[in-house]
Amino acid sequence: MDKFRIQGGNPLEGTIQTSGSKNAALPAIAAALLTAEPVVLRGVPQVRDIATMLRLLEDIGATVERDGSRVRIQAANVVKPEAPYELVKTMRASSLVLGPLAARAGRARVSLPGGCAIGARPIDLHLTGLEHLGATVSQEHGYVCAEAPDGLRGGAIHFDRITVTGTEDLMMAAVLARGETTLVNAAREPEVTDLAALLNRMGAQVEGAGESTIRIRGVDRLHGAEHTIITDRIEAGTFAIAAAITGGRLAITGAPVEHLDALVAKLRQAGVRVEQEGDSTLVVEGGRTLRSVDMTTEEYPGFATDLQAQYMALMTQAEGIAIVTETIFENRFMHVPELVRMGANIRLDGRRALVAGPRQLSGAAVLASDLRASASLVLGALAARGETLIDRVYHIDRGYEKIEEKLAQAGARIERVAG
Ligand code: EPU
Repeated sequence: MDKFRIQGGNPLEGTIQTSGSKNAALPAIAAALLTAEPVVLRGVPQVRDIATMLRLLEDIGATVERDGSRVRIQAANVVKPEAPYELVKTMRASSLVLGPLAARAGRARVSLPGGCAIGARPIDLHLTGLEHLGATVSQEHGYVCAEAPDGLRGGAIHFDRITVTGTEDLMMAAVLARGETTLVNAAREPEVTDLAALLNRMGAQVEGAGESTIRIRGVDRLHGAEHTIITDRIEAGTFAIAAAITGGRLAITGAPVEHLDALVAKLRQAGVRVEQEGDSTLVVEGGRTLRSVDMTTEEYPGFATDLQAQYMALMTQAEGIAIVTETIFENRFMHVPELVRMGANIRLDGRRALVAGPRQLSGAAVLASDLRASASLVLGALAARGETLIDRVYHIDRGYEKIEEKLAQAGARIERVAG
């Protein structure tokens, strides 16, 4: 298993380019199942979760051609409308094929995801939603099966709680359903809006994405389309925090600036200088004394849970006590014991973490437990004195494209040690 060896202590300086968004590309790839014609996506990041999703589509019967960040997918036939356990267990987002397969093939069989490092993460809301669209849902041998041999029909779906992939999954199911569907209490994340843009390019009639009620008028068929995926707000946010935590100065280009308001507001309150240059460059400059600022994760447009771990690493370097509250996932504090091993002063109290700073971190051997936790360890290591060895970086490879190259280009002393 690969490791990262990081020598901390030097400020990052320079320019880092943002990649395409993993969490926008995943549903876009699944959407290609809705038509027999080719769907061409640009700006698809080269990360492991994307490779897994493409493999799943090939398994289902699609042909996939990949040329760097451009991917062409054609699902002329759906051969096997199924997401097997082997793939779902490595990537929960595989459940995104449920809606498209039920809509296109009238049948979908998807392994139940089970728990994961950050919480229980059931898909019950995807399933009850499909039932509202007329599917019959059953469960056996660890798989759920959604069947709608005569096609789905529009319906009113009210989400009990906001779910990002649930909203995406049901939006994809509804575009080919007979009649009109409304999704109430839908997720407003930019990734949902990007998916709606792709679906509309394919001939769908989706209105209101980005708001909490989405209206979809079903159509008989969709056609091929070309679409450029939005850039990754979580990756850009991670680099912004890297500049702040090392007291450096980074220009983050291609950043989806309009999707980063919550983070930028917190960084400014904490004493970090953040300026926008042009449409899509964020210049982030640390170096001044950091102040502790409390933060609570929320659905978009609130502070993203996917940046909580990284923000917590930053707060270890801030003066005072910051209360970080995680409201989206019940167990997303796996980075805490590892940051504590590096010298951080963090106390856990249920869904809250109390981070007291500043504490000089010192390099240590640590273990990555999930994607965003790994990113926070990289950030801690960049700020630490001495050498940190991060084990299990396959977690970070799931969602960050060439992170070590990008950071090294800005002066980080980071290398991958093959294991
Ligand atoms: N939930 C349910 N039932 C459901 C669906 C969700 O109880 O049927 C609960 C979850 O257990 C969780 C909460 O609702 O407590 C929100 O989960 P959501 O469904 O919104 O999460 P997700 O769609 O599985 C996406 C991202 C995650 C990101 C979350 C929250 C993708 C592929 N994944 O997951 O990204 O943390 O939204 O913003 O879009 C990551 O990239 O590292 C990552 C984990």
